[in-house]
Amino acid sequence: MYRSIAFTGKGGVGKTTSLVLCLKFLIQNGNYNKILVIDADPDANVVDLVGKNVHFENTIGGKMHEIMKRIKMKMLAPYKDSKQAIEAEIFNCLLHFKNFDLIEMGRTEGEGCYCSVNNVLKNAFDIISEAYDLVLVDTPAGLEHFARKTTKDVSDLIIVVDPSKMSFHTLKQILDISKEVTLNFQNYWVLGNKFLDNNWYMLKEKVKMLTEIRIKLLGLIPENSEIMKYNLFGKNLLDLPNNNEAYNKAKRIFKKILS
Ligand SMILES: Nc1ncnc2c1ncn2[C@@H]1O[C@H](COP(=O)(O)OP(=O)(O)OP(=O)(O)O)[C@@H](O)[C@H]1O
Ligand SMILES: [Mg+2]
Repeated sequence: MYRSIAFTGKGGVGKTTSLVLCLKFLIQNGNYNKILVIDADPDANVVDLVGKNVHFENTIGGKMHEIMKRIKMKMLAPYKDSKQAIEAEIFNCLLHFKNFDLIEMGRTEGEGCYCSVNNVLKNAFDIISEAYDLVLVDTPAGLEHFARKTTKDVSDLIIVVDPSKMSFHTLKQILDISKEVTLNFQNYWVLGNKFLDNNWYMLKEKVKMLTEIRIKLLGLIPENSEIMKYNLFGKNLLDLPNNNEAYNKAKRIFKKILS
């Protein structure tokens, strides 16, 4: 059974950045041989941060768009043939990096109902994930993916917050929605990002105020000017120097749950 970790939270809090720092740690640590990153954000964030470009045709959204066209043109039967086609296309979408594989979800474009395709897609993801030791998921900022249960079977849900009231509001909404749609993650973590180093006590206090027994405080990644610079100049975040202060904090944090 593979382990899966999803990064979620309000827009712009640092979900993708945290995921890439976690990935950097995992690559160096070497405990997991086969790592899959699923970029479920249609804005294709992870590839941006690791310095790559992926065309729409090579995303799951792009491939599914093609399959939908073929179903409409009666070249494929919606349920029978499409299942095989979808499973094959997922494998075609895998991008191979030196130490990990990546799948870009992309957008679901065009008209028509994607329900049949989405159902097959969910199963296909389960099948493909079985080939890995660890799956990291970057979720889009909205909450719909929880409602649609596309973020299911995740062992660790990391909810990223920054020093803003709104990010804690989103955290609460995520906890509520996961109750409503009965999503059972094994662990719910709060990860503070972009806080100042000496703001640790604020984060602790805010988490205490949640009065949620399910939630555990994972740690704090401080605001860091080198991370900002890497983003601004489009540099690969995996190349961040190993002695970067924020990366060292992140390393300690992820070691707690992944070693
Ligand atoms: N610890 C940090 N120090 C400095 N800048 C940071 C830090 N974490 C994230 N950032 C910056 O904040 C911005 C948003 O980060 P990121 O893209 O990771 O957020 P996100 O939650 O994935 O956003 P979205 O909801 O748009 O997907 C980026 O410019 C990123 O470089
Ligand atoms: Mg992102």
